[in-house]
Amino acid sequence: MSYLQVVTKADELLKIRSEVGDDVDIGFVPTMGNLHQGHISLLEEALNNHKVIFFSIFVNPKQFAPNEDYSKYPRTLREDLEKIERACERDCKDKNTQVVVFAPEDGVGEVFPKGYATSISVGGRISEILCAKSRPNHFAGVTTVVYRLFAMIRPTVAYFGMKDYQQMLIVKKMTEDMLLDIIIKGMPIVRDNDGLALSSRNAYLTAEERKVALILPKTLNEIKKLILESESELEKFISDKLLQDKRWDYLQVLNANDLQPLNREKEIIALGAFRVGNTRLIDNLLIYR
Ligand code: PAJ
Repeated sequence: MSYLQVVTKADELLKIRSEVGDDVDIGFVPTMGNLHQGHISLLEEALNNHKVIFFSIFVNPKQFAPNEDYSKYPRTLREDLEKIERACERDCKDKNTQVVVFAPEDGVGEVFPKGYATSISVGGRISEILCAKSRPNHFAGVTTVVYRLFAMIRPTVAYFGMKDYQQMLIVKKMTEDMLLDIIIKGMPIVRDNDGLALSSRNAYLTAEERKVALILPKTLNEIKKLILESESELEKFISDKLLQDKRWDYLQVLNANDLQPLNREKEIIALGAFRVGNTRLIDNLLIYR
């Protein structure tokens, strides 16, 4: 078992961070809580690689638009801490591993104190396409909180899920542009047995909607098959889907490295956003051709 601490105050967090010192390799997993195996897989990887790990649980108001689900976003701190504890018991190889959970709950002021006025946003195409079209200020909200958490925690490696592929690339770009000495490690998508990517938002789905949601991973798999077998049909396949089913917010195949339009690169990615009732789900599939 590792040494697990839970802190709710920024002051406490900064104190622990300064006690850790500057020459220690630190892993960091930022989340908004309501943890599932997708989040825990990031922690497991961090436990494999570091003796000091920070894990944040903070529902960041800056990345939600006024019409989005900020207030009803599931907050399940007690269960989250149990999951973290279990993962630590299971996967900690070294009993001296220190895991610090920063969970300000609804104490927004612990991350953005009164008078906080800075916004960090990555410009260019990567912040204008896909999810940014229907969520215009979302990624600026993400990069602002991630930059702030990076400044508080000063990690060596930060773990992000490829489930939010555009987010991961935008955070990478921010760290490059701002010369942050932090490695952004992208981790594979964890799925349920039926193929649906794990997401906190799956909790909003009724049993019926849960079945409809499978259209998303199934379509991405169809695209993969098409690319590997008869790529010439790809464009028509996608435009037919978008035309026939208005629940698609987007469905695109792009260069996996930078989300630029397809050229001849080998590593590509199919990305989709699909609305089921009031819930908008995202997913993607990496394809090597
Ligand atoms: P959240 O949605 O809680 O996700 C936290 C991390 O878990 C992200 O890096 C996300 O990509 C990863 N994740 C979620 N579902 C996953 C799955 N099925 N498989 C693998 N990884 C998965 O993303 C955010 O929070 C926020 O935007 C945040 C970065 C914390 C900034 O507020």
